Amino acid sequence: MSDIFRNYDKNKNNTIELTYRDMLIHQKMELSILGISIINSKSYRYNIWDIINKLDEIVDDSDPDTDLPQIIHCYQTAESIRLNYLQPNMMIKNIEIKSLFTSQEWNDVPLQFKNLYNTTLDKLYSHIIYWDWFLLIGFIHDLGKVMLLPEFGNLPQYMVVGDTFPLGNKLDKNYVFYNKNYHANNPDLNLNIYMDNCGFDNVIFSWGHDEYLARTLHINKTYLPPEALYIIRYHSFYSWHTPANGVMGYKHLANYKDWYMLPLLKCFQKADLYSKTPNISDNSHIKSIYDDLIHKYIPQKMLRMSSCFFIS
Ligand SMILES: [Fe+2]
Ligand SMILES: [Fe+2]
Repeated sequence: MSDIFRNYDKNKNNTIELTYRDMLIHQKMELSILGISIINSKSYRYNIWDIINKLDEIVDDSDPDTDLPQIIHCYQTAESIRLNYLQPNMMIKNIEIKSLFTSQEWNDVPLQFKNLYNTTLDKLYSHIIYWDWFLLIGFIHDLGKVMLLPEFGNLPQYMVVGDTFPLGNKLDKNYVFYNKNYHANNPDLNLNIYMDNCGFDNVIFSWGHDEYLARTLHINKTYLPPEALYIIRYHSFYSWHTPANGVMGYKHLANYKDWYMLPLLKCFQKADLYSKTPNISDNSHIKSIYDDLIHKYIPQKMLRMSSCFFIS
C-alpha cells in the first residue's frame, strides 16, 4: 500500500522538487537557531480554534499525496489513529511492534532494540493508560504550517513543509532528491559535528512546522505527555522513521530514547500518510468531537504563538 504514497514521480508541475531543492540549498543552522530564539521570546495569545480554522487557507507544496485543505487532513489523521490504534475506552490496542516495520527496516534494527520491540504497543508503553491525547495530536500535528500565512511569518514553503533533516551532519543518502545533489554547496549538510548517540533532542534540525509546534506547545505548558511532543517534533523525519530505501538514516545520532519512541513515530506516520485519501469528510461536526480534548490538554484553549519573520 505504501507504494502508492510519497511517489515523487507524479510531481505536480515540478513544484515538489523545487520546494525540496530550495530546502536543501537554504536551510541553515543559524536559521533554525534564530527560529528557536523567536519562539522562546516574543509571542501572542490565540484561541486554538482560530489557528485550526486558518489551516483551511493552506496547501502543502511538498506533498505529492493531497491537494486537500490541511484541516481535512488533520481530521482524517486523527480518525485514522482512532480506527487503527485505539480501543473505544481510549486504551491502545495490543499491536505487535514488529508489524509496524517492513521486513527490510526490521533487518536494519540493531539486536538490542529488536529485543526491546519483541512485544506489543500496550506493553512497551505500559506507563500510559489513556491515549486520547494521541487523537488530539493527530488533529493538531500540522498547526505549525501557519508559518506560511502572513501573520505568522509568511515563510516560504521550504522553511515550513517537507521532510526534516539534521543540520551539522552529512545529508543521508535516503533523503528525497539526494541524487540531484542540491545539498552539495550547503555547508551544514556536509559536516559531522555531533557525538555518536547524542540523541535527536540534542541535534539542530531543519526549520519546519514540526519544530515550531513542538516548541510552541512546550512553552505553553500544556497537559500533553512528552510522547505527544516527541511525535509532533519528529513526525516529518522520514529518513529515520520511514526511510524510502528501507535503511534507517542517522542511526549514529539516535540514543535509547529515540529507539524507544520509534514505534510511536511509525504508528503516527501510517495514520498521517494513509489518511490522505480524497474522500472529503463533512467537517461541520469536527469541532464538537475535538473541543473536549482540546479543553482537557490545552488550558483555556489558548496558545501563545510566535510570528517567524526571519526570512527576507
Ligand atoms: Fe506534518
Ligand atoms: Fe500531516
